[in-house]
Amino acid sequence: MGKGTQGIGLKKINNPPIEWLENRVRILDQTRLPQEEVYLELSHHQSIASAIVELKIRGAPAIGIVGAYAVALGALKIESVVRDEFLEKLRDIISTIAATRPTARNLFRAIDRMQKVAQAGKDIEQIRAALIQEAVKIHSEEAEATRKLSQFGAGLIQDGFTILTHCNTGALATAGYGTALGVIKQAKEQGKNIKVLATETRPLLQGARITTWELKKANIPVTLITDSMAGYFMSRGKVDCVIVGADRIAANGDTANKIGTYTLAVLARENGIPFYVAAPTTTIDLSLASGDEIPIEQRSQEEVTHIQGVSIAPEGVEAANPAFDITPHRYITAIITEKGIIKEPYGEGLKGSNPR
Ligand code: MRU
Repeated sequence: MGKGTQGIGLKKINNPPIEWLENRVRILDQTRLPQEEVYLELSHHQSIASAIVELKIRGAPAIGIVGAYAVALGALKIESVVRDEFLEKLRDIISTIAATRPTARNLFRAIDRMQKVAQAGKDIEQIRAALIQEAVKIHSEEAEATRKLSQFGAGLIQDGFTILTHCNTGALATAGYGTALGVIKQAKEQGKNIKVLATETRPLLQGARITTWELKKANIPVTLITDSMAGYFMSRGKVDCVIVGADRIAANGDTANKIGTYTLAVLARENGIPFYVAAPTTTIDLSLASGDEIPIEQRSQEEVTHIQGVSIAPEGVEAANPAFDITPHRYITAIITEKGIIKEPYGEGLKGSNPR
């Protein structure tokens, strides 16, 4: 366990997935799901950085929120009384948080905001207070955005639809209502009779472990499939649409999302199935012309050679582990954001959505 990290008990079901508690942040440890609901209270920016790297907290919007809280907590612990020295130490803290995971745009958007707030502060006490306020604001804005985009997206779902989704995009990944899963939950709340096919999402099984857990809690019928079964179900007319989230969307609409998303998009096109991406505008990166420029996180080989700590491959075998892939915009039927639904030409629509 990292510095400032504690498990504080099992089966505490009704806490929010991320909660600010004045001088610490409480998160639900997603690596323990679905077996155990364990909350961690983290008071040190370094322990939050470790939690992000280890995917105890994951999902693009959620990473941005806890990244902001990490900066605020780091600021509380800086001992300097000289403003410039304080700001220099804060920059080191921000660099540590920025180095955790490279793909999710939301993280960089959030820490940029924190950096600007710090720079604008007159004295150290005022900067500390402003940083906490900004992190809380980022949290509530992200939560609100997922609520709104879910309402827009639900309009695309018809009664009787079976929806295929990938990875996990619910309340746990967003600290709000959810992106792709938010759309699904909203459609259900509107009284639509829907079913979900959830891919297991190898290597780390976010679909099998977390999406099915969230859908069961929401009383939405879900069938778990392995990633390689998607084509089978699509080609037999068993899927009405695919909805996924996003980690970063380039200016032309190319989208980075969990590895395997590109495969699903190509299969959807081949089978004439609409393919939707749902994300808050904080995931949009207009500074990158296309998906070719999106940094893709490469994770450890062990996540592929092992499942939950158990080896499944011969010792010493080489494995590759890109955590995300890029879906070219031509495969995307629409991008659902809190500002509305964007279709081709994505260049104009994304720019016009005024990403936050
Ligand atoms: O590596 P993760 O689990 O943080 O990746 C998250 C995803 O890629 C999700 O699929 C999601 O679309 C982005 S977060 C709503």
